[in-house]
Amino acid sequence: MTNIIIAPSILSADFAKLGEEVAEVECGGADWLHVDVMDGHFVPNLTFGPLVMEAIAPHTKLPLDVHLMIENPEQYIPAFAKAGAQVITVHAEACVHLHRVLHMIKEHGVKAGVALNPATPVSAIREVLEDVDLVLVMTVNPGFGGQAFIPGTVRKIKELREWKQQNSKDFHIEVDGGITAATAPLVVEAGADVLVAGSAVFGQADRGAAMAAIRSSVNL
Ligand code: DX5
Ligand code: ZN
Repeated sequence: MTNIIIAPSILSADFAKLGEEVAEVECGGADWLHVDVMDGHFVPNLTFGPLVMEAIAPHTKLPLDVHLMIENPEQYIPAFAKAGAQVITVHAEACVHLHRVLHMIKEHGVKAGVALNPATPVSAIREVLEDVDLVLVMTVNPGFGGQAFIPGTVRKIKELREWKQQNSKDFHIEVDGGITAATAPLVVEAGADVLVAGSAVFGQADRGAAMAAIRSSVNL
């Protein structure tokens, strides 16, 4: 049985009381905290930057899993590293010099992740798979919480798992978008081990029960 990591996305939390929201999911059994950063250019939505993350960090012991949905992510890597990121994930589509950016993340003592939009094939990142700690397979088009899971993305998870097995390499396979107790078994069966969930956790009154439902859906 794989050790499944559940990472609630604070995008769906109440921004007016972020500290309390974070404490609640930590008590409720979250493993990581997923931090969605959007710039209004790479994706058609805006969230927050390193200052807000710096304010959250003292409220939790959970690893902060930063998902940069921004253009020129290299400009902000030092600030997110300083703000307490444990993982920083950049989009392959946003990086002309992807190899350089991934190594820049590592040079800041942070685990490096690369994300793929639904329309981007695994082949786009094949040459950097040896350099990453995590691959994020987007299971919706990034930009908003609460969208429907795209089933066609599951074959990319399987392809990544096969590459890991064939090359005896290890990196996390994270999924993000539309993950619920109904879709989690599909992605875990395909090889995902980090499940991001926004609305399925923060949209529920009992966040602990919501995470337990996702966990038990994949641990039967
Ligand atoms: C979408 C974000 C996700 C989002 C997921 O662009 O990257 O992390 O919060 O939300 P749900 O789980 O509601 O689809
Ligand atoms: Zn995300």
